[in-house]
Amino acid sequence: MQIVFTDKELAIFKKIAAAAEKLAVPCYLIGGFVRDKIIGRPTKDADIVCMGDGIELAHAVAASFKPKPVVAYFKTFGTAQIKLDELEVEFVGARKESYSSHSRKPEVEPGTIEDDQNRRDFTINALAVSLNKHDFGTLVDPFNGMGDIEKKIIQTPLPPLQTFSDDPLRMMRAIRFAAQLHFTIAPETFQAITDNADRIRIVSQERITDELNKIMLSKKPSVGWDLLFRSRLLHIIFPQMADLYGAEYVDGKGHKDNFYHTLQVLDNISEKTGDLWLRWAAVLHDIAKPATKKFEEGHGWTFHGHEVVGARMVPKIFTRLKLPLNEKMKLVQKLVLLHLRPIGLTKENITDSALRRLLFDAGEDIDNLMMLCEADITSKNPNKVKRYLQNFELVRRRLQEVEEKDQIRNWQPPITGELIMEKFGLTPGRPVGIIKDAIREAILDGIISNDFDAAYAYMLGKAAELNLKAVK
Ligand code: CTP
Repeated sequence: MQIVFTDKELAIFKKIAAAAEKLAVPCYLIGGFVRDKIIGRPTKDADIVCMGDGIELAHAVAASFKPKPVVAYFKTFGTAQIKLDELEVEFVGARKESYSSHSRKPEVEPGTIEDDQNRRDFTINALAVSLNKHDFGTLVDPFNGMGDIEKKIIQTPLPPLQTFSDDPLRMMRAIRFAAQLHFTIAPETFQAITDNADRIRIVSQERITDELNKIMLSKKPSVGWDLLFRSRLLHIIFPQMADLYGAEYVDGKGHKDNFYHTLQVLDNISEKTGDLWLRWAAVLHDIAKPATKKFEEGHGWTFHGHEVVGARMVPKIFTRLKLPLNEKMKLVQKLVLLHLRPIGLTKENITDSALRRLLFDAGEDIDNLMMLCEADITSKNPNKVKRYLQNFELVRRRLQEVEEKDQIRNWQPPITGELIMEKFGLTPGRPVGIIKDAIREAILDGIISNDFDAAYAYMLGKAAELNLKAVK
């Protein structure tokens, strides 16, 4: 099997081969680059493993380019990196692990290409291509990674227990690759993940969340979340999400399974957007359903207030998952809080003031909110789906009308606090807030129009009610 490189890639690999030959250091292209080339995925990171000093080889390679690229190297890890136009190339010396009888800690020592391939996570990631003169371009595939790519299988090169105990993050990586590539995890490998899920606790949250985000950004993220659930990794890394699973029954009445509903919402929104945070909003929109669930006699299952409780959970979940606590978190929180509002607007109650309030609360994110709400329709009943979609059409149309008329989406108070203070000789305090709030409410309720003159007149009236005298 010959792997097809672009001309530019080939030129780079030939230079690496020449530098390696001069140093008498055998070297190979290995890992994700080879895998992605075979699969046909675009890739920009190339890993080179050599039977010698990776840093020395990187310097020799860099010296053969004009202008000479910078070599970033890390002595403790024995790795070096060169950024070229086409590729980011990383160099490392092949390693093997040996366990001395008096210590359980592995000692890493120089090894052969086979040793290095043994230490890799999956057969599809252990493929290597020779960059040596006598067999340049030959595939070195001791674990039949090629066959696994063809059969779309993820499995470890060594017994899975050994591979996973080297780095338990690999359990998440298996699921991430399954999600990204639409591959199946081999039964023995998946069983080992299930058996060792608990070991994920020793891995840093940042690395776990990196993998989670990669799962989130895959084409159909439910694939990855479902595997996380079935392996029970999810119960450890994100128990609130696992809690959504299942339906409880009382008097023969059940509610829907909120875990699979959530995954459906996530896949629905993922068809519309690649935005990571909108996808997180889908994952979290019903997160407080277990906490708010009640069975009410004569009524059935209710989840009152789950949007409010859910919004309160968002920063805690972001903190735990080490997701950023910035405006992205605020966006997710806002969407969780508001996700029931558009669906509450039906033909009967879709008043201008309800629409103004929705525009005011959602602001810039109104379109994102509508996207989430449409994704939230997962009913199997086509009539219901049709009804909801028609209703959203109506809401969208009416939102547009009201926005054109009243410009609430990016609302700024037409009367500032400073103006109120100047006019009535006030210092910052409650009366200023009362007047500002009253103006806002009057605009949202449609009592006055959203402009300076109307707001000014309304301010005077409100001030009179508060016995304030104008000083200007
Ligand atoms: N690798 C490994 N175990 C890990 C991480 C990485 O064995 N826990 C090996 C695999 O051979 C992998 C290579 O190191 O192919 C490079 O790792 P990385 O760059 O993290 O992943 P890629 O496989 O290149 O995939 P992606 O770029 O999609 O993350």
